[in-house]
Amino acid sequence: MPDLDITHPKIYEYLERTLPEETEILREMGDYGRAQGFPIIGIQPGRMLHFLARAIGAKRVLELGSGFGYSAMWFALAVGDGGKVIMTEGKQANQDRARDYFSRAGLLERVEFNVGDALELAKKYPSPFDIIFCDIDKHDYPNALAIAREKLRVGGILIYDNMLWQGRVVSETDADTRAVLETTRALFDDDTFFTTLVPLRDGQSLSLRVK
Ligand SMILES: C[S@@+](CC[C@H](N)C(=O)[O-])C[C@H]1O[C@@H](n2cnc3c(N)ncnc32)[C@H](O)[C@@H]1O
Repeated sequence: MPDLDITHPKIYEYLERTLPEETEILREMGDYGRAQGFPIIGIQPGRMLHFLARAIGAKRVLELGSGFGYSAMWFALAVGDGGKVIMTEGKQANQDRARDYFSRAGLLERVEFNVGDALELAKKYPSPFDIIFCDIDKHDYPNALAIAREKLRVGGILIYDNMLWQGRVVSETDADTRAVLETTRALFDDDTFFTTLVPLRDGQSLSLRVK
């Protein structure tokens, strides 16, 4: 199984040391994630999520696969007062940890916690969303696209993480990699989205809903 450096290690290190400091809570969450080997999106893509949300004035964000809230924290900081990040996560313990971080950050009003299957939970929320971010198990990536088609507003952005899948996309044929490849193809073939791939950390697809 390849484990390719998507970004040259020296460039990666340059980016990490050049970016400004995170907030104290984000730094703490990042340290916890690294210590546990928990696959959070990381600071560089985290800043991109925040950037995109602020660029389009996002007020309603749906997150599929929230873990203990690191990526949701970047969104919550972006949506401002009155904004809402709907979090979905399969494991109760992760959401309990997330609640603690948001409580300490004074941002509980900007998030909703949901435990269960992200795709099922998403169904209960009415459209439209400004941003949908998908970071669940890879075999479910194609199914998340149906949710986005139904629930994302025109002008909204669909984001998938791990779209380069540690380089497996270039040579592997296991089920998870096939699901990532299938999702990539479906996004590029769908003329209701304008999609691009960003080779940052593990790679993200950014899809602007154009109609
Ligand atoms: C990559 S981690 C999420 C990291 C988070 N987005 C971040 O960057 O901080 C994926 C999380 O999604 C959860 N998960 C995976 N598949 C899921 C599903 N179908 N429904 C709900 N949660 C799921 C896992 O328990 C795990 O916590």
